[in-house]
Amino acid sequence: MTTKTLVLYSSVDGQTLKIIERITALIEGEISLFNVDDHFEIDFSEYDKVLIGASIRYGNFRKNLLHFVNEHKVQLDLLPNAFFLVCLTARKPEKANPANNAYMTKFDQLSLWQPRLKGVFAGALLYSRYNWWQTLIIQLIMKITGGSTDTKEDIELTDWSKVELFSKDFSAL
Ligand SMILES: Cc1cc2nc3c(=O)[nH]c(=O)nc-3n(C[C@H](O)[C@H](O)[C@H](O)COP(=O)(O)O)c2cc1C
Repeated sequence: MTTKTLVLYSSVDGQTLKIIERITALIEGEISLFNVDDHFEIDFSEYDKVLIGASIRYGNFRKNLLHFVNEHKVQLDLLPNAFFLVCLTARKPEKANPANNAYMTKFDQLSLWQPRLKGVFAGALLYSRYNWWQTLIIQLIMKITGGSTDTKEDIELTDWSKVELFSKDFSAL
């Protein structure tokens, strides 16, 4: 029987979606993909598994994401499930461990749903896409945390081998 996986994402500049696309290319079966910002109806009984990925902005998850996981806690709990977050602090290996990432701690506090498998991945630094004040904020964060402040360069910090390992763990759920 074909495994049907429900996949949801919360992404602003596309890096979380890119990670989702890498994972879904590696897992077998049928995939239904939804952006949590869109209007959609989900019949959870149609699915065998669920995966959710979300990026961090200004230290927070986006409201729609938290609203979705809290509203659907019961349905999420009934399926093998996984969650990953994408942020820039995770470019440091010790912060890429879900047990040691402040945003995952925040998720644990704000979400009624506690995922069975958790992942934390570094995102992308896309200065070419940011407006002037976003550039300033990101440069400030990078300056404080020892990252790149060179606005001429976009850098993808995602560790794709970690994403592939996560895909394997998700497939094994
Ligand atoms: C305006 C803005 C605010 C951000 N705030 C944070 C932050 O507080 N902490 C962090 O680790 N990363 C932060 N990031 C980095 C994003 O999480 C990272 O760029 C990620 O790749 C974005 O994923 P997305 O393209 O799927 O939205 C921020 C990025 C932007 C553009």
